[in-house]
Amino acid sequence: MFRDVSSCNTYNYGDALYWDARYVQEAGSFDWYQRYSALRPFVRKYAPTSSRILMVGCGNAVMSEDMVKDGYEEIMNIDISSVAIDMMRRKYEHIPQLKYMQMDVRDMSFFPDDSFDTVIDKGTLDSLMCGTDAPISASQMLGEVSRLLRPGGVYMLITYGDPNVRMPYLGRPVYNWWIELYVIPRPGFEGSASSSMKSYLEPIPMTEKGLLPADFVLEDPDCHFIYVCKKMDDVLTSIPSID
Ligand SMILES: C[S@@+](CC[C@H](N)C(=O)[O-])C[C@H]1O[C@@H](n2cnc3c(N)ncnc32)[C@H](O)[C@@H]1O
Repeated sequence: MFRDVSSCNTYNYGDALYWDARYVQEAGSFDWYQRYSALRPFVRKYAPTSSRILMVGCGNAVMSEDMVKDGYEEIMNIDISSVAIDMMRRKYEHIPQLKYMQMDVRDMSFFPDDSFDTVIDKGTLDSLMCGTDAPISASQMLGEVSRLLRPGGVYMLITYGDPNVRMPYLGRPVYNWWIELYVIPRPGFEGSASSSMKSYLEPIPMTEKGLLPADFVLEDPDCHFIYVCKKMDDVLTSIPSID
């Protein structure tokens, strides 16, 4: 969906009513974009299993359950859809590592500052970018994410948005985020022999303006981007290694 704003118009992805209606119809589970198995190398690299994790816009995805099976101890899941949250809370009442709360990512004042080590967003900023007042909603959400991350914490954004459309938001100096970018093909994509030899675990060096290098070829036009945004401690004077 949402490669850019022009592709959002068919559905009202920014509207809570749209999501409630959708989750009433689709009572099972569904993971947008990628499953945990594909994202695991990135999640494990940046988030120890003891991390306090906030999953924003969890929907009815299995990702958090898979993370608990992989050793994660504390995942707070929020979504604007009360239908999704009620369903997930019932489904996972026997798993104490998983908590579910109905909440709007633009106002997470329920949580104090620095509450989380890691915030994971798979498709939720993308949804807001399809709503009315998208730039305001995106700024409100990212301001809240920044507030909730402890210094040194990481916001991991899995999105359809390339740097051209996401870096103007993520790169705002007020957040003081140090950003690494990865590109992974959509599930099932069969690239050329040379692309299958390429490692998707290597970050893509961005230009000074936060864009893809001019000679970078996107083999899969429907790929996903992963932005790993590390909240810098104000007192740091140099860029630390992020591993
Ligand atoms: C594309 S779905 C992704 C769901 C899930 N993260 C996944 O990967 O399958 C976007 C989710 O964001 C939620 N959402 C949209 N706007 C929101 C908001 N303002 N606050 C919280 N959640 C929101 C929707 O209800 C939906 O569950």
